[in-house]
Amino acid sequence: SMSISAPPALLLLLGGVALYPSPEEGWQIYSSAQDADGKCICTVVAPAQNMCNRDPRSRQLRQLMEKVQNISQSMEVLDLRTYRDLEYVKNTEGLMKVVDGKLKVASDNPRSLNPKGFQELKDKVTQLLPLLPVLEQYKNDAKMILRLREEVRNLSLVLMAIQEEMGAYDYEELRQRVLLLETRLHSCMQKLGCGKLTGVSNPITVRASGSRFGCWMTDTMIPSSDNRVWYVDGYFKGRRVLEYRTMSDFVKGQNFVQHSLQHPWAGTGHVVYNGSLYYNKYQSNIIVKYHFRSRSVLVQRSLSGAGYNNTFPYSWGGYSDIDLMADENGLWAVYTTIPNAGNIVISRLEPQTLEVLQTWDTGYPKRSAGESFMICGTLYVTNSHLAGAKIYFAYYTNTSSYEYTDIPFHNQYSHISMMDYNPRERMLYTWNNGHQVLYHVTLFQVIKTSGD
Ligand SMILES: *[C@@H]1O[C@H](CO)[C@@H](O)[C@H](O)[C@H]1NC(C)=O
Ligand SMILES: *[C@@H]1O[C@H](CO)[C@@H](O)[C@H](O)[C@H]1NC(C)=O
Ligand SMILES: *[C@@H]1O[C@H](CO)[C@@H](O)[C@H](O)[C@H]1NC(C)=O
Ligand SMILES: *[C@@H]1O[C@H](CO)[C@@H](O)[C@H](O)[C@H]1NC(C)=O
Ligand SMILES: *[C@@H]1O[C@H](CO)[C@@H](O)[C@H](O)[C@H]1NC(C)=O
Repeated sequence: SMSISAPPALLLLLGGVALYPSPEEGWQIYSSAQDADGKCICTVVAPAQNMCNRDPRSRQLRQLMEKVQNISQSMEVLDLRTYRDLEYVKNTEGLMKVVDGKLKVASDNPRSLNPKGFQELKDKVTQLLPLLPVLEQYKNDAKMILRLREEVRNLSLVLMAIQEEMGAYDYEELRQRVLLLETRLHSCMQKLGCGKLTGVSNPITVRASGSRFGCWMTDTMIPSSDNRVWYVDGYFKGRRVLEYRTMSDFVKGQNFVQHSLQHPWAGTGHVVYNGSLYYNKYQSNIIVKYHFRSRSVLVQRSLSGAGYNNTFPYSWGGYSDIDLMADENGLWAVYTTIPNAGNIVISRLEPQTLEVLQTWDTGYPKRSAGESFMICGTLYVTNSHLAGAKIYFAYYTNTSSYEYTDIPFHNQYSHISMMDYNPRERMLYTWNNGHQVLYHVTLFQVIKTSGD
């Protein structure tokens, strides 16, 4: 008989990075959205060149060295992961070869195996086949990291030498090399995907606009090159949706067109997914899919049993009975029903028909939730909409289990009426007391190479 044991869980921290550069503070890496082709975009901003320092070059050099040291540390983490994975890959490959060999012998000499045993063996091999591309990918990752590591080592040597002979090397060239390395390292880490939320950055206020309650967002589908910003002010019986061409137009409040919805909305739980707005129709538990380009309603459907009309809102009220959201895994509705006694229910929705694909009962009372958002199939719930709120509860749809969490974040304007994760930008979009605010998230990744 054959069994494959999974390697120990492998850990990796994906860093939260700063959005806006403050060049005096050193090197900054811009966010990590994906472009139209699904590639990572990583931009590195160099520190200011003309610092009023007695010897700016030597200071910059010190920073470069520190940076290289930091990169080396990240590299060690990555290396540890790939090293362990590689061991696992090698073992698995060996096992597969053994099975394959047995199979060959068996088919050459069918009598050595009864038909049942033969079929079992064959099934095992078939099960293993999808693993092959995964194994290939790990080997490639491992090679890439080895190469990066060598470059980092080389670079620190050069830097050390240069410190002794200031001026002998071309500073600009050196700077370019560090920059390149950093970009590549970042994209390498970014590639490693989903994870568990462990931290939320400081708030980044993008704009102060609108009433106390509202919703704003960009398209949440991966991949998407749609950079428009959608703005929905108010929580009650509204119809007006503003569409800004880009984020910078939104910041300046210019270049927008208006959509007037056929059906008014309730709450602030709307989401834009693949060019359509999904929202809860006022005084009903109907979800409406409004297509922006054709300005038409493509489908509407009742979310069976879902409370509405302020029966089961979040702690802040505002007809927030039904919260729609999207993450890496697709479209979701968060709500509750009378049979669920007011505890949060999660349903995964089919984006074309709005049919419910699967439902989870989290057991967490919706009235004690400030807001909730989904990252990588996990629902995170805050315990209040007011100052002092924290991310208090997490429900894992992959294992249908929950845990209490204690992840703080700064609720700068003390009244959050919308909080949604955008999987494309890996950021939290929030509406806080008439301010449109973003947060970066830090995801802690547990990579389990799939065993048997
Ligand atoms: C290196 O990492 C440390 C600790 O994470 C940080 O404080 C420091 O600013 C980093 N240095 C540079 C140049 O990024
Ligand atoms: C390391 O630096 C030396 C000297 O600049 C260079 O000749 C060599 O090719 C470099 N090695 C790598 C792997 O970049
Ligand atoms: C379930 O998802 C969480 C968060 O995304 C992750 O940390 C965990 O490892 C996953 N569990 C399994 C069994 O895949
Ligand atoms: C996105 O929308 C397009 C049409 O606008 C459709 O063809 C495609 O299947 C949709 N993708 C998803 C994942 O819903
Ligand atoms: C919704 O609530 C309001 C105020 O509580 C009430 O007047 C109205 O009849 C309700 N509508 C529905 C459809 O339940």
